[in-house]
Amino acid sequence: MNLEELTKMYDFSDRTVVITGGAGILGGEMACALVGCCANVAILDRAPELADRLIDRFEGGPGRAIVVYADVLKPDTLRNAEQVIQTEFNSSVNMLINAAGGNSPKATTSEELPFFDLPEQALRFVFDLNLMGTFLSSQVFARGMAELGEGVIVNMSSMNAIRPLTRIPAYSAAKAAVTNFTQWLAVYMAMEHSPHIRVNAIAPGFFLTEQNRFLLTNPDTGELTERGRTILEHTPMNRFGDPEDLLGTLLWLLSPASAFVTGVVVPVDGGFSAFSGV
Ligand SMILES: NC(=O)c1ccc[n+]([C@@H]2O[C@H](COP(=O)([O-])OP(=O)(O)OC[C@H]3O[C@@H](n4cnc5c(N)ncnc54)[C@H](OP(=O)(O)O)[C@@H]3O)[C@@H](O)[C@H]2O)c1
Repeated sequence: MNLEELTKMYDFSDRTVVITGGAGILGGEMACALVGCCANVAILDRAPELADRLIDRFEGGPGRAIVVYADVLKPDTLRNAEQVIQTEFNSSVNMLINAAGGNSPKATTSEELPFFDLPEQALRFVFDLNLMGTFLSSQVFARGMAELGEGVIVNMSSMNAIRPLTRIPAYSAAKAAVTNFTQWLAVYMAMEHSPHIRVNAIAPGFFLTEQNRFLLTNPDTGELTERGRTILEHTPMNRFGDPEDLLGTLLWLLSPASAFVTGVVVPVDGGFSAFSGV
């Protein structure tokens, strides 16, 4: 191995990558990095106009990005998106990043809303978005990988899959299920289809984005809530993550540099999961 060979591993020319929830904060950063590494990137989102904020960053290439409507809970829209991608890039999908996900304030306990009263609909929404969204997208795009005999899937788990966080029981359980499904699918794809299809996940620590801002900061003052402060006290690096902090791990998991890695969940958390609090 030398520097040239190493660098080549991170050249994604002629690779087609789908990112569900790719108009979001973390998925959007991933999309920009992959365009920078020469990939064909398809951003799938139910609110594709959100990706407009990224357009300037795509224009410099060297890869290409397209934005395609898809709802990860509607398999027809995922299959339609697959057709659009095939036509636009003249290529099958080689890599899938399942980044659509999130929590809901209605599925979050508080003094006014105890566990017993969490609405069923809100709980189902969170389970569906995180678990079924990952399942259904994997069913649609992994089929093509099975036909090609190669591919990579990266799921988004979370710290709360390791140990649940207070107040967000549905999101914690759903992400624990994403971790479990990552392991299941890794074994299934390698043993039933091809050892060149790998499935892994990233477990991000705490990144301030739209899905958790209401829990971590005060909407009026922008200052940290008590929960936000507690998280920082339990993060040895004493800061929230920046979306770019995920890129090294993501590119490694997508690249041949991790050719013998499947079924793992990599924490990117500033040390949160390693710290006992003492
Ligand atoms: N931020 C963190 O600290 C953190 C930590 C651990 C794990 N994660 C995970 O990382 C992933 C990305 O999170 P993020 O922080 O970047 O959140 P985000 O900014 O809210 O991005 C999520 C994206 O998914 C889209 N989406 C929601 N429902 C969808 C559906 N049914 N079909 C297609 N797209 C849909 C959202 O669109 P809308 O705006 O229309 O809803 C949004 O563009 C999620 O799985 C999240 O759970 C985040």
